[in-house]
Amino acid sequence: MRVNFLEFKNYRNLHEGTVEFSSGINVIYGENAQGKTNLLEAVWLLTGARSFRGSKDKDLVSFRADYARISGAVEAEGRENEIKITLKDNKRMAEINEINRGVATNIIGFFKAVIFSPEHLSLIKGSPENRRKFIDAAICQMKPVYAVQLVKYNRTLKHRNFLLKSISHSPMLEDTLEIWDKKLAEYASVVIEERIKYTEEISKTAEKFYFEISGGETLKIDYASWEKFKGLTKNEIKEFFVKKLQGSRKEDIAKGITGSGPHRDEINISIDGKPARLFGSQGQQRSAAICLKFSEAQIATKAAKEPPIILLDDILSELDEKRQNQLFKLAGEAQVLITGCIKPVMKLKHKNFFVEKGKIFTEE
Ligand SMILES: Nc1ncnc2c1ncn2[C@@H]1O[C@H](COP(=O)(O)OP(=O)(O)OP(=O)(O)O)[C@@H](O)[C@H]1O
Ligand SMILES: [Mg+2]
Repeated sequence: MRVNFLEFKNYRNLHEGTVEFSSGINVIYGENAQGKTNLLEAVWLLTGARSFRGSKDKDLVSFRADYARISGAVEAEGRENEIKITLKDNKRMAEINEINRGVATNIIGFFKAVIFSPEHLSLIKGSPENRRKFIDAAICQMKPVYAVQLVKYNRTLKHRNFLLKSISHSPMLEDTLEIWDKKLAEYASVVIEERIKYTEEISKTAEKFYFEISGGETLKIDYASWEKFKGLTKNEIKEFFVKKLQGSRKEDIAKGITGSGPHRDEINISIDGKPARLFGSQGQQRSAAICLKFSEAQIATKAAKEPPIILLDDILSELDEKRQNQLFKLAGEAQVLITGCIKPVMKLKHKNFFVEKGKIFTEE
């Protein structure tokens, strides 16, 4: 998977321009606040996903402009296609080869990328929600239907929670809870099954990567709440979950909220048997986050037979030369776009782009 060419208009501080990327390593450098991350973000939007910085679509449009547009010539399986993303009225719309595809999330899976930025440290250090989102997003990139199941789960959960709150003043409503328990368990079982499968897979890959980068330490990832249910069928998970909901019904009614389920599950990450969140050093946490992101890329590669592009925002300066080389070795054949403040000294072949005040200068 490659992005060969990018054209942008009114994208944050990137007012208008084009970039021709190389198929190997691309280094984007320049001082702070010049537009380096904005450029990576523009490429990322071609995947159809929302900004990796969590920004609202309307904040991506240049101040004082009323729309933004990004077009990319992307290559997959030897064929080039044009993806166009238009941001307007706080919405993201997509076109492929000039055919309207509606909202941008419809094209997720067409062009794949993985992004690693310093914020991804929250994958290790942050709340469980960060880890659930990471796993969910990774599954969605490979299996877009999973996103639909997640939406159904969350919608049903909202209904059940609403009902739980209503029961406190209308107790006869408790009879209707059973239907919602079954429905919730149906969607929960899909989510749990997919997350268990994915966690097992990423744990294996990340363990290998981390072993190399750290020189012998052991990284493990477990879908904690369901660790002992590994190998259960979807139906068995569903039955177990219904029982769990029934068991906690009194408590759920008292609190007016569903106390357990995929929206509460934790994914444990440990280094040499200790929770990385609590005991990992900065370097260990950073390496673990990188290994997770690279594993995500490698798993996506297996399913797609072609590596996704790798976007690395501001991480070179954090790593010594040995680790940098190790990192590029892990990237293998993938196209890499990497940002940093200083022009890197790098033995590997690469193309440099200098960014200043939203303008991108190619250095041949
Ligand atoms: N909607 C917008 N319209 C215009 N400018 C914007 C918009 N959103 C953000 N910017 C500006 O874009 C500038 C560059 O941001 P960017 O995050 O790309 O910098 P950077 O080169 O990655 O810097 P750093 O090295 O500090 O990470 C910021 O100064 C910001 O004010
Ligand atoms: Mg930046």
